[in-house]
Amino acid sequence: MNDSTTGADHGPALPDGAGDGTRAVRAGLPEPVKHEPTLPGPVFAAHFHLPGDPTGPYTYGRDENPTWTLLERAIGELEAPGQDDAETLVFASGMAAISSVLFSQLRAGDAVVLPNDGYQALPLVRAQLETYGIEVRTAPTGGDAQLDVLDGARLLWIETPSNPGLDVCDVRRLAEAAHAQGALVAVDNTLATPLGQRPLELGADFAVASGTKQLTGHGDVLLGYVTGRNAEAMAAVRRWRKIAGAIPGPMEAWLAHRSIATLQLRVDRQNATALALAQALRERPEVTGLRYPGLPDDPSHKIASQQMRRYGCVVSFTLPTRAHADRFLDALRLVDDATSFGGVRSTVERRGRWGGDAVPEGFIRFSVGAEDPEDLVADVLRALAGSAA
Ligand SMILES: Cc1ncc(COP(=O)(O)O)c(C=O)c1O
Repeated sequence: MNDSTTGADHGPALPDGAGDGTRAVRAGLPEPVKHEPTLPGPVFAAHFHLPGDPTGPYTYGRDENPTWTLLERAIGELEAPGQDDAETLVFASGMAAISSVLFSQLRAGDAVVLPNDGYQALPLVRAQLETYGIEVRTAPTGGDAQLDVLDGARLLWIETPSNPGLDVCDVRRLAEAAHAQGALVAVDNTLATPLGQRPLELGADFAVASGTKQLTGHGDVLLGYVTGRNAEAMAAVRRWRKIAGAIPGPMEAWLAHRSIATLQLRVDRQNATALALAQALRERPEVTGLRYPGLPDDPSHKIASQQMRRYGCVVSFTLPTRAHADRFLDALRLVDDATSFGGVRSTVERRGRWGGDAVPEGFIRFSVGAEDPEDLVADVLRALAGSAA
């Protein structure tokens, strides 16, 4: 992980085969020190004492911070367990992390392949890349369609499962094809979280994510990260963070680390309820286009089951009309009408309201929280019954 640059000592090694819950609660903890807290508090510092030649690990607050160090180690232990050559860098947001990879790796004249059904800020990124003379090609996530436009590309950007359509592509297959022609591969791992999918083990060069979602899980922190194992590429990502300055505040970094301790509990609860909700929704005649990669008959399930260990907390489906969808959202009592996903409080939105996704007017993206499953499913069924035309 990042120890060569931090000087911080690891806590005791975990037993071989430790489970995800054990690894999450211990992730990134330092060596116990008498009278010190288990997880040291946030270090608020713009600069550090630095007599003489400026040597690390801590010089200036835009470059390094001890609170980031522990968080980066924690994320690295979950994204790339046992991969000592992997490095993690944290950012102010998921978009800062995404931009750091794209803008540090691509040059004028390069070609990059993006999904055409990924997070809705990607078209803005596309437009920016094009102003720099970078050729941007797009293809859908499903059916591994990005393979068809890969020829000669410098970087392949994958988002699986895709947001909001929940399509899945075969990361191993795409990564092999990309590497065979010298392209780097980045996977947006936001929806799966590192407990659901480990892109580096599937062959990717970078796992990139918004930590704003299920990783931190309380809807109160914006954060992003990049985990990568190509030292040269990661040095460029680090340099980009320094020049763009898109760094997390110490408080956000600490809150994120504190939240990771409950990641396995939250993910298992939320994902199990997401499956229960999807199963309940499939019985409803007004629901079409139901997607959840954990449903055995979902079009994504076969590939998802080969590369994911958990299927996420987002369920998507379509109601017949925009008005029907709005009535449904109004009728929910336990679910907030809000964007984003992954939080312990369920959120839902009519995704078409943003105008950026190619989805029907009645398309609903539902993020399942940590409520009691029976309560949540009952609330949804009651709201559906009450919102029929
Ligand atoms: C898949 C995905 N990637 C990246 C982002 C961007 O993350 P952030 O909002 O933390 O910048 C989002 C945000 O919704 C997302 O859903």
